[in-house]
Amino acid sequence: MTESMSAVLECKALAKNFDEGPEKLEVLKDLNLMVGPSERVAVVGSSGSGKTTLLQLLAGLDRPSSGEIRVCGHDLATMKDTQQNELRNRHLGFVYQFHHLLPEFTALENVSMPLLLRKKTPIRQIKEKAERLLDAVGLLARAKHKPAELSGGERQRVAIARALVTEPDLVFMDEPTGNLDPNTAEKVHGLMASLSKASRTSFIVVTHDMNLARQMDRVYRLESGTLVLD
Ligand SMILES: Nc1ncnc2c1ncn2[C@@H]1O[C@H](COP(=O)(O)OP(=O)(O)O)[C@@H](O)[C@H]1O
Ligand SMILES: [Mg+2]
Repeated sequence: MTESMSAVLECKALAKNFDEGPEKLEVLKDLNLMVGPSERVAVVGSSGSGKTTLLQLLAGLDRPSSGEIRVCGHDLATMKDTQQNELRNRHLGFVYQFHHLLPEFTALENVSMPLLLRKKTPIRQIKEKAERLLDAVGLLARAKHKPAELSGGERQRVAIARALVTEPDLVFMDEPTGNLDPNTAEKVHGLMASLSKASRTSFIVVTHDMNLARQMDRVYRLESGTLVLD
């Protein structure tokens, strides 16, 4: 990727400090990254190296101390929270380290939610699409269950289906296959690969799963606050 115009995500000289406590904690410093359409990038690194912090910044869920982040051509720093929300709903998907499903809704309703919020797709199509995604992660039989009635791995798969239902331009995943057995993890890998081809979806995936990392186009290690090509 050299054409910055076509990058889905571009960040330059990114830094993040946490000032709480007696001394300043420099989590990220002079971090640069460029991701093009349909590219899949893995980020590995030891616990506490700043992986979750990085994803939060790139998705506009936290503000950097300095540096520039452009997502789908938009400079996050210049956007109001409402504009960032709209950008996230239109272009991004996010699978959190802890799934964040809505407890009072069923699996099918949770997966449907991003499309319902967009208010652009007829209800019947939303249901069909959400069912297709649940099927792809092997959970169609659990569509009517609420998160409390699902195992940790099943909740994680619902969260993955929810992040992908809008066919986003860019999906952030924070240790998405940590709770999954190898068979199910393989299904999720396949889903990512087919989406990146069919919808040109890009992925930035934080993972400890080297089997998953190896299937990505590039693997970076987050080390001393910056990304090193592995
Ligand atoms: N809101 C916060 N306030 C202060 N320190 C934080 C905050 N969030 C994360 N940290 C610290 O930043 C470092 C990186 O955290 P994190 O990004 O969660 O690491 P990872 O996801 O790689 O395990 C850790 O030392 C963590 O304690
Ligand atoms: Mg983390």
